[in-house]
Amino acid sequence: MLEVEGLEASYGSFRVLSGVTLEVRPGEIVALLGPNGAGKTTLIRCIAGLLRPRAGAMRWEGRPLGQAEAHTVVERGVAVVPEGRRLFGSMSVEENLALGAFAPRARRGEASRLEGVYAIFPVLRERRRQLVRALSGGQQQMVAIGRALMADPRLLVLDEPSLGLAPRLVESIFGLLREINRGGVSILLVEQNVHAALALAHRGYILEAGRVAAEGQGSVLLNDAHVRRAYLGPLAR
Ligand SMILES: Nc1ncnc2c1ncn2[C@@H]1O[C@H](COP(=O)(O)OP(=O)(O)OP(=O)(O)O)[C@@H](O)[C@H]1O
Ligand SMILES: [Mg+2]
Repeated sequence: MLEVEGLEASYGSFRVLSGVTLEVRPGEIVALLGPNGAGKTTLIRCIAGLLRPRAGAMRWEGRPLGQAEAHTVVERGVAVVPEGRRLFGSMSVEENLALGAFAPRARRGEASRLEGVYAIFPVLRERRRQLVRALSGGQQQMVAIGRALMADPRLLVLDEPSLGLAPRLVESIFGLLREINRGGVSILLVEQNVHAALALAHRGYILEAGRVAAEGQGSVLLNDAHVRRAYLGPLAR
């Protein structure tokens, strides 16, 4: 569905990605893990059409993605929940959600999609007239995910949605991601919350210093000696 092959990306002369190959198959939840600065957000920016890769190929549903503009990527069915959410705090919940439906394809059926988002996140319906900045961190993350769903994506890409959320909230957000996935949306999930992400994902990739250091099924990665040492700490058993 999404295929990334030998991707290289740089900021100026500073190379960040050195030959990243990964894929998301239809119906999958794939976790992308790795330490700060590994290049996770950079990879997502390439997929989203916000950064041009230096080399390599990206294909989406069999067609090249490499030169696509950001709005074209959304139109083709890939929606991103960016790092740090990037919401408009002085606009209402519903106004922020509506911004996700800008693509012509998403415009059609916007009202029913909004109903769908409110069905997943009932609290957003209650708060729909409130300014986003008055919401809790967890509720804001729901708005960010809801806004991406308004684009009617077939692939939802999330960059550290659990950041700054209490463990119980992370659990509930991840539970909702599972529900969204069961509704037919594939998911690429960037996370530092290794345990929770691998428990949710069908498969995972570990990105280290711009390279894929390990990949496999969630349960396999969780038991990988290197992964346990590097990410789960001395208390991992
Ligand atoms: N706009 C930029 N200009 C120059 N260097 C950048 C820029 N954005 C990121 N970098 C550098 O690229 C490297 C990878 O950054 P990136 O944000 O992709 O990492 P990440 O894996 O998402 O990290 P984190 O877990 O902290 O979000 C880092 O060394 C970072 O300092
Ligand atoms: Mg990042």
